[in-house]
This record gives sequence, C-alpha cells and structure tokens, in this order.
Amino acid sequence: MPCLLAFSDSQLVIKIAEKEFLNSTGFNYLYETSENLLEVIEMNSMFRSVFVHSVLKSARSASLRAITISLIAVGFLSVVGCEWGAIGYNKGYAPEQPIPFSHELHAGQYKMQCLYCHSAAERANHSDVPSLNICMNCHLVVGTDKPAIQQLSEAYNKGEPVAWKKVHLLPDHVKFNHKRHVQKYGAPQACHKCHGPVESMETMYQSSSLSMGWCINCHREKENQAPVSCSTCHY
Ligand code: HEC
Ligand code: HEC
Ligand code: HEC
Ligand code: HEC
Ligand code: HEC
Repeated sequence: MPCLLAFSDSQLVIKIAEKEFLNSTGFNYLYETSENLLEVIEMNSMFRSVFVHSVLKSARSASLRAITISLIAVGFLSVVGCEWGAIGYNKGYAPEQPIPFSHELHAGQYKMQCLYCHSAAERANHSDVPSLNICMNCHLVVGTDKPAIQQLSEAYNKGEPVAWKKVHLLPDHVKFNHKRHVQKYGAPQACHKCHGPVESMETMYQSSSLSMGWCINCHREKENQAPVSCSTCHY
C-alpha cells in the first residue's frame, strides 16, 4: 500500500519540521531521519512538484502550520491518486556522448589536470565543459587519423560546439556552488569527493547520489561545520 505509506511518512516530515522550526538550535532530527525524508519524497512527479513547492515555501516563511497543511494535502493527493513512481537519483547515469571522450585516457593516462579543462570549477558556481579550442591545442596534430578526432576537427572548423550530454544535474530549486567546495578541498581532491574516480572513467558517469541527505551528511561532519539551514541550499 505505497499510497498510504506516503501519508504516514509525511507525518514524519512534520515532526522534522517541528524540530526545525520550534527549536532553532539546528536539526539533528533531520539528519537522523534524512533517509526517511528522502523516502517521503519518492512520489509521482506531479505530487512531487506540489510537495517541493509548498515545503520550500513554508520553509521560507518558517510556518509550521503551512508546512503541515501542505503535507496533509500531499498525503491526501497521494491516497486519491494512488500513483507511485520512484525518483531516480541517477547514480550511475552515463549517457553516451556525441564524441567518445575518455577521462581515463586524458586525466588518467596523460595526467591532464582537471582545471586545465574545467577552470570555472575553481572560480564560479558552475563548472564548465571545455570549448573545442582547448581540445584543438593538441588535436590539430594528435590523432588526426582517428574518425573521432576528424569529427572533432569538423565541428571546430564549422565553429559548432559539441552537444555534450549533461551528466550531473540538480533540480532548479537547489543552490550549488563549485568554488566554495573546490577552494576548501583543492583540486583534484575536491572533485574526487563528489565525482568519484574520474581518472578511471572511460565514459563519464554520476558517482554520487547528489541527494539532499548526501549533501547534508557531509556538511554536518565535525571537521566541516558547514551550514545546514534550508536557505543554504534552496532558493
Ligand atoms: C582534456 C579536457 C578534460 C580534462 C583534463 C578533464 N575533463 Fe572532465 N570533461 C571534459 C569533457 C569534454 C566533458 C564532457 C564529456 C563527458 O562528459 O565525458 C567532461 C565532463 C566532466 C564531468 C561531467 C559534467 C556533467 O555533464 O555533469 C565531470 C564531473 C568532469 N568532467 C570532471 C573532471 C575531473 C574531476 C577531472 C580531473 C580528474 C576532469 N574532468 C578532467 C574534459 C576534460
Ligand atoms: C594535452 C593534449 C590533449 C588535449 C588538450 C586533448 N586531447 Fe584528446 N587525446 C590526446 C592524446 C595524446 C590522445 C591519444 C591519441 C592516440 O592514441 O592517437 C587523445 C585521444 C583522444 C580521443 C580518442 C581518439 C581515438 O579514437 O582513439 C578523443 C575522442 C579525444 N582525444 C577527444 C578530445 C577532446 C574532446 C578534447 C577536448 C575536450 C581533447 N581530446 C583534448 C591528447 C589531448
Ligand atoms: C561538493 C561536491 C562537488 C565538488 C567538490 C565538485 N563538484 Fe562538480 N558537480 C557537483 C554537482 C552537485 C554538480 C551538478 C550541478 C548542477 O546541476 O547545478 C556538478 C557538476 C559539474 C560539472 C558540470 C557543469 C556544472 O557545473 O553543472 C562539471 C564539469 C564538474 N562538476 C566538474 C567538477 C570538477 C572538475 C571539480 C573539481 C575541481 C568538481 N566538479 C568538484 C558536485 C561537486
Ligand atoms: C564532501 C563534503 C561536501 C559535500 C558532499 C557537499 N558539501 Fe556543500 N560545503 C561543504 C563545506 C566544507 C562547505 C563550507 C566551505 C567553506 O568553508 O568555504 C560547503 C559549503 C556549501 C555552500 C556555501 C554555503 C555558504 O556559506 O554560502 C553551499 C550552497 C553548499 N555547500 C551546497 C551543497 C549542496 C547543494 C551539496 C549537494 C549537492 C553539497 N553542498 C555537498 C562540504 C560539502
Ligand atoms: C546542504 C544542502 C541542503 C540543505 C541544507 C537542504 N537541502 Fe533540501 N535538497 C537539497 C538537494 C541537493 C535536493 C535535491 C535532491 C533531492 O531531492 O534529494 C533537495 C531537495 C529538497 C526537496 C525536494 C525533494 C524532491 O522531491 O525533489 C525538498 C522539499 C527539500 N529539499 C526541503 C528542504 C528543507 C525543508 C530544508 C531545511 C530543513 C532543506 N531542504 C535543506 C539540498 C539541501
């Protein structure tokens, strides 16, 4: 009976919210039950967007009553709709890329630095995927007999960017900041914490869940003491 489960789990979130809003000394409870919070959130996408919207709105106005009402409404919707879909956290996601670029070859075997190609990771919210100029620094002369490199040169000569498929993607309501994390841990150590063993990836894949619980667990680590209030990560 997954639909009913949604309802009883919502009450769990209410408890979490209560702790958060009534006792502003931090929220151990959310931490302890973050697994459960994530379960609640496994709803069909329509209910999810209602849920996300109302919970975040209530979180901003810090109104426990609003959060309770919206959660009851969502519980009700779930019971009525009785539709259930797991939210894919996309761990392991590895889309096929238009050109088979290998991190294993470039960053692993040839030991190229992450920041040589992704320099924005150090200075901006968003990291970047390199433009073809960077590739052509080598591939004007290297591997020009290979079909993949010919494809690359063709795009370069036409001035067309390669349509790389995005691998990591947070929902719009989440704020994320590369610079803060990369400056804190330095490259490539920082990259490894979140993106895994990139130097051995022939095809890039998502190595961490990127779930809220995953972010918060690290923020709460004793040596980090990073902020965990809702507005740290949500608009
Ligand atoms: C020679 C340039 C180059 C180097 C060096 C390089 N990358 Fe990349 N990176 C790319 C390209 C091109 C893509 C897009 C294609 C793909 O996903 O494989 C990419 C994609 C990525 C992505 C996925 C982006 C997304 O869509 O979510 C991550 C994460 C990443 N790189 C991390 C790293 C890390 C960490 C290192 C160092 C260990 C590194 N890269 C070294 C060129 C490079
Ligand atoms: C510092 C030099 C360098 C840069 C910069 C570089 N590469 Fe390479 N790349 C190499 C070398 C060396 C090889 C191995 C060539 C060989 O085996 O003939 C290679 C191989 C490749 C191959 C495999 C070709 C095949 O079929 O075997 C692809 C695809 C490729 N690179 C794409 C890219 C892309 C895309 C970029 C830019 C994001 C890039 N490279 C940047 C040096 C570089
Ligand atoms: C604290 C975790 C964390 C660290 C550290 C980190 N990343 Fe990311 N990275 C992410 C997340 C989360 C996303 C998805 C961001 C989004 O969708 O807004 C991402 C996305 C990317 C992308 C795709 C472009 C973008 O910004 O959406 C690239 C490229 C990338 N990371 C490279 C790197 C490199 C290189 C390093 C190290 C210098 C690094 N990252 C360090 C978590 C991290
Ligand atoms: C590997 C541990 C780790 C992970 C995983 C991690 N963070 Fe962080 N985060 C930190 C640390 C440490 C800081 C504080 C950095 C500093 O002191 O400058 C921080 C800071 C931040 C900040 C800046 C806070 C401010 O004061 O403005 C934001 C926003 C943030 N993280 C969001 C996220 C999100 C969203 C995720 C998950 C997608 C995430 N973080 C995952 C360790 C982590
Ligand atoms: C350290 C960063 C961080 C903090 C702090 C944080 N969140 Fe999140 N939150 C995320 C990330 C990342 C996601 C998207 C991934 C997911 O759904 O787990 C998310 C997703 C959500 C969602 C939507 C889930 C869905 O179905 O997409 C809600 C609702 C939410 N958070 C509420 C809160 C509330 C309320 C607080 C404060 C008690 C909070 N968050 C604090 C990072 C954070």
